[in-house]
Parts: sequence; structure tokens; C-alpha cells
Amino acid sequence: MLSRSSHSRIIYFSRSALDKDPDARLEQETQLVRTSRRQNEFALITSILAHDKGWFLQMLEGDRDSLNQTFARISGDSRHKDVRIVEWRESPRRELLPSLELISREAGMGDIFDKYGVEEVLQRGTPTAAHLREFMLTAQTLLLSRRGIEVLT
Ligand SMILES: Cc1cc2nc3c(=O)[nH]c(=O)nc-3n(C[C@H](O)[C@H](O)[C@H](O)COP(=O)(O)O)c2cc1C
Repeated sequence: MLSRSSHSRIIYFSRSALDKDPDARLEQETQLVRTSRRQNEFALITSILAHDKGWFLQMLEGDRDSLNQTFARISGDSRHKDVRIVEWRESPRRELLPSLELISREAGMGDIFDKYGVEEVLQRGTPTAAHLREFMLTAQTLLLSRRGIEVLT
């Protein structure tokens, strides 16, 4: 009998171990996004990756097995450390659209990081999954509306 794999979601944060030099860091970030996006397209994973003030924060969704495999690679990656999972659960439906979209201050998203106090909640070490998920979904709406796409909920 075929086993039906369920849909899951992961939200984690970590400390960036990318280069301190801004130019080198941008280069590394571009490379990371390029490979990750390609992998996610192949595995039908959707995600948003936030990078700010030395923190990475990512929400990923997809089929449970693909997500397990992807997260095993991510958590062993030396380009970040102190990976902490905030939420890992089954979810009824996909909420994110892009395979991987990077949000950062450099990309003009500073206001939203500040509005959600991302640096503070991560530093304190006790962010709630609901807060981070709302941040991600708001960031997605902003990203898409900038491209002229309206998200219907
Ligand atoms: C912060 C961060 C986020 C990442 N996000 C993803 C991702 O969404 N999907 C993915 O396949 N790899 C992601 N990676 C990269 C993986 O760790 C890994 O380098 C990549 O999948 C290539 O793996 P491979 O060289 O074993 O094929 C991420 C890495 C870091 C540091």
C-alpha cells in the first residue's frame, strides 16, 4: 500500500557564520540562495529566509520526507551555527509561494524587521512560532505586492 506523506512546516533560527566583510558576505549569500533555491525547486519546498544583524531565520514547508532531508542538510551547514528549532509540525496547507526568497535590510525590508522586533526576540531566545510565522507571511505579502501580485487569503 502507498503511504501518504503529509505536509509539514519548520521554523528555525541560527547565527550566521558568513564573512564579516560586507562584499564577501554578499557573495556568499548570493551563492547560498542560488543553490538552495535550485534544491527547493527540485524538492517542492517553499521557504522564506531572513538574514539580519548576524541572524538567519527561515520558514520552510513541504512534504514531510523532503523537508526532513532538506533540514538535515541545512542543520549541518557550517555557514551558520546554533541552529534552534522554534516549530516543526504537520501543517494542513502550504502558505508560502516562493522556493526560496531572501529578505534582508539590504533588499529594503528593514522596516518589517523592526516592526516585528526580530533582533530582540531572537536575542532573547524565546520567539513564538506564531509571531515568526506572522512575520514571514507579512514579509511574503510585501514581497509579492512589490511585484504587483496580490495574495488572496
Ligand atoms: C541559513 C541557510 C539556509 C539554507 N536553506 C536551504 C534551503 O532552503 N534548501 C536547501 O536545499 N538548502 C539550504 N541550505 C543549504 C544547505 O545547507 C546545503 O548547502 C545545500 O542544500 C547543498 O547541499 P549539498 O551540497 O549536500 O548538495 C541553507 C544553508 C544555510 C546556511
